[in-house]
Amino acid sequence: MLKGKTILLGVSGSIAAYKAADLASALVKQHADVHVIMTANAMQFITPMTFETLTGNKCLTDTFDRGCPSEVEHIAAASRADLAVIAPASANIMAKLAHGLADDMLSTTMLACTCPLLIAPAMNTRMYEHPATQKNQEILEQYGWEVIEPAVGRLACGDTGRGKFPEVSLILEHILRRIALPHDLEGVKILVTAGPTREDIDPVRFITNHSSGKMGYAIARIAMLRGAEVTLVSGQVSLGEPPFVETVKITGARELFEQVTKRSPEQDIIIKAAAVADYRPASVSDEKLHKSDEDLSIVLERTEDTLQYLGDHKKEGQVLCGFAMETSQMEERARAKLARKHLDLICANNVKVEGAGFGVDTNVITMISPTDTQKLDLMTKEEAAGCLLDRLAAILREKRLAGGNETGSR
Ligand code: CTP
Repeated sequence: MLKGKTILLGVSGSIAAYKAADLASALVKQHADVHVIMTANAMQFITPMTFETLTGNKCLTDTFDRGCPSEVEHIAAASRADLAVIAPASANIMAKLAHGLADDMLSTTMLACTCPLLIAPAMNTRMYEHPATQKNQEILEQYGWEVIEPAVGRLACGDTGRGKFPEVSLILEHILRRIALPHDLEGVKILVTAGPTREDIDPVRFITNHSSGKMGYAIARIAMLRGAEVTLVSGQVSLGEPPFVETVKITGARELFEQVTKRSPEQDIIIKAAAVADYRPASVSDEKLHKSDEDLSIVLERTEDTLQYLGDHKKEGQVLCGFAMETSQMEERARAKLARKHLDLICANNVKVEGAGFGVDTNVITMISPTDTQKLDLMTKEEAAGCLLDRLAAILREKRLAGGNETGSR
């Protein structure tokens, strides 16, 4: 996701400096061109050689190094960066940047940067919570730095509190959110549903399906990376909650209906990727059901059809997208659902097709609108999510244009 992007990774003197090697490696795996700048104190904890081996680039440590590729290397490094991140940031580097001190390679380069700036403080809790550090953090935020709050936990010094280096995956997500994808969905509110529902039979048993939630989570994450304000209403899945997305966990179809319908009026786009049960046990036993020698029948009743409700009550200008998971007559059935539920688009897949089944990281989708059908090849769920969001963003634009033409107001 970072192909063609140049990232400056500043490493300052904190015991967490060794964790910056993982971050450098994660950035390289995303195909970023990573240039590490270390302070003298950082080199007490980890060597430049580690970063040079991981990134394939010379590690910058000395403003007056005559062996640097450019004569004024700190200015050249600042000019070519798409993003700069200091991780870990010590109290000292925060204080220097807050007050414009520029006395080494990292501080001079940062002062010359005009790209997005991220900073991940990591230090002892009392140092971090000291009013001087807190004030410096505020000043840095005023100067446009995005602060990645340190985590709470046991620190290297033995104390417990706020000051831990955040998970590398979280820092990476902050970076991706800033520069990985164009922010074409800025200002757009998107609600996504994902995963299976569970319908209780008794206190120990339930009816569910094989949905892993991966498709819905991929849509939520890509929409977030493209700048949308995303709400994810999710069934019980084993996936971690995506950062920067408001995630609402639900269990049954009724709860999904309530959580979605109370948020639906303010959404621009709603994407219903959840695999919702169509039936639930008509009565739930308070006690565990015990076996007998007889066959057992459970009476099932219909659940609320959230998508049908949303289609019947669609607000003007809103874009509604359903999913249809089929095993035969995919297009016909999906087209019937599109019409019946008053959708703008339906995303169909056949679970019997290789790479389009449950739990896998790929999908083969067909996007069907009232006017056309677009079949996509086998691709990752994140790539499929990107194509789906392109299509839905185009429909939203058309609706806004048509609404503007009719009312002359938009
Ligand atoms: N859906 C819903 N509420 C339900 C059932 C389904 O919102 N109670 C949504 C799903 O999230 C999905 C779409 O409707 O977007 C699936 O359409 P549906 O006609 O219900 O398909 P199936 O559940 O597969 O049912 P059928 O047996 O009619 O194919």
